[in-house]
Amino acid sequence: SPNISSSCKTAAMGIGNMKDAVRTRACCPPGKDKPIKTFVFPKEKTVKMRWPAHRGTPENIEKYKKAIQAMRDLPDDHPHSFIQQAKIHCAYCNGGYTQVENGFPDIDIQIHNSWLFFPFHRWYLYFYERILGKLINDPTFALPYWNWDNPTGMTIPSIFEEGGKGTKDNPNSLFDAYRDGNHLPPTIVDLNFSGESDASCLEQIGINLSTMYRQMVSSATSDTLFFGGKYVAGDPPVANGAKSIGSIEAGCHTAVHRWVGDSRMPNNEDMGNFYSAGYDPLFYVHHTNVDRMWKIWKDLGIPGHSEPTSSDWLNASYVFYDENEELVRVYNKDSVKIEDLKYGYERSEIPWLKGRP
Ligand code: C2O
Repeated sequence: SPNISSSCKTAAMGIGNMKDAVRTRACCPPGKDKPIKTFVFPKEKTVKMRWPAHRGTPENIEKYKKAIQAMRDLPDDHPHSFIQQAKIHCAYCNGGYTQVENGFPDIDIQIHNSWLFFPFHRWYLYFYERILGKLINDPTFALPYWNWDNPTGMTIPSIFEEGGKGTKDNPNSLFDAYRDGNHLPPTIVDLNFSGESDASCLEQIGINLSTMYRQMVSSATSDTLFFGGKYVAGDPPVANGAKSIGSIEAGCHTAVHRWVGDSRMPNNEDMGNFYSAGYDPLFYVHHTNVDRMWKIWKDLGIPGHSEPTSSDWLNASYVFYDENEELVRVYNKDSVKIEDLKYGYERSEIPWLKGRP
């Protein structure tokens, strides 16, 4: 299974118009020869409860804005800085790493478009959340989730846009300039996005709910259909559009990326391209909801709704900086139970479950 070594190169894969890239392609993490620790499960008792971004408490919203601002204020080369956290996505997704540790130095790693998609992003958010908590010294800190599968959450959550970038004394750390101007609130997200649709708001909500039902239930009846196909050492990076992509990844996940990304930018920065997506704070709350879909899919308890059991999947691993600035290797097998990772999701109605198309 793909492993990440300390060897890393400038990203070049999948960035359409590289010469006009507005974000850097130098995405390798600092600390090249730092030792890599083995992951241990968190020991704290408190469970970090992730909350719906469109109805956060004033206290949670303030903490969240403060933590992201603290991240932005770190020097760029700090492993916890806003930019380094964004670069993680670029390194793992745009050819920053090769499979050198597995004996394939000429083959790049791509954690998208295969069964690595869900576990990789779960780990990414796990560390990101703990880093933010550490920055504001709050062990209960939990990320919000963008509740786009519920009609009340189907616009960009207002906290990401209100007041634009704010003022010097009171910046809105959640704002990002590279978002599609036609898709700001109150425009309803298009979970099937492939170019502008002329559906009315109500029609769009209906389309979104049946999209969710399809991608979570009717076309997600096996681990392969939901997680995506096998991807192991020696396999070339799976191209976008390949058959093996999981239902959520290929569907609403990618649609939201493209819908948020600025269509006037050369590479649909920020959300519309892997190399730049992590520069938009919306990326992380989009992915907490994607992660929540994994949990919901599992909890539906339908036969077939369980993780891959192949050792190639269980033993695939990634390396991240933890909240103590140490490099940690984490495995898919340890990502399966979020209870063990000490976070959870605040309840929100799941209307698409009843709205069987
Ligand atoms: Cu790593 Cu939403 O993509």
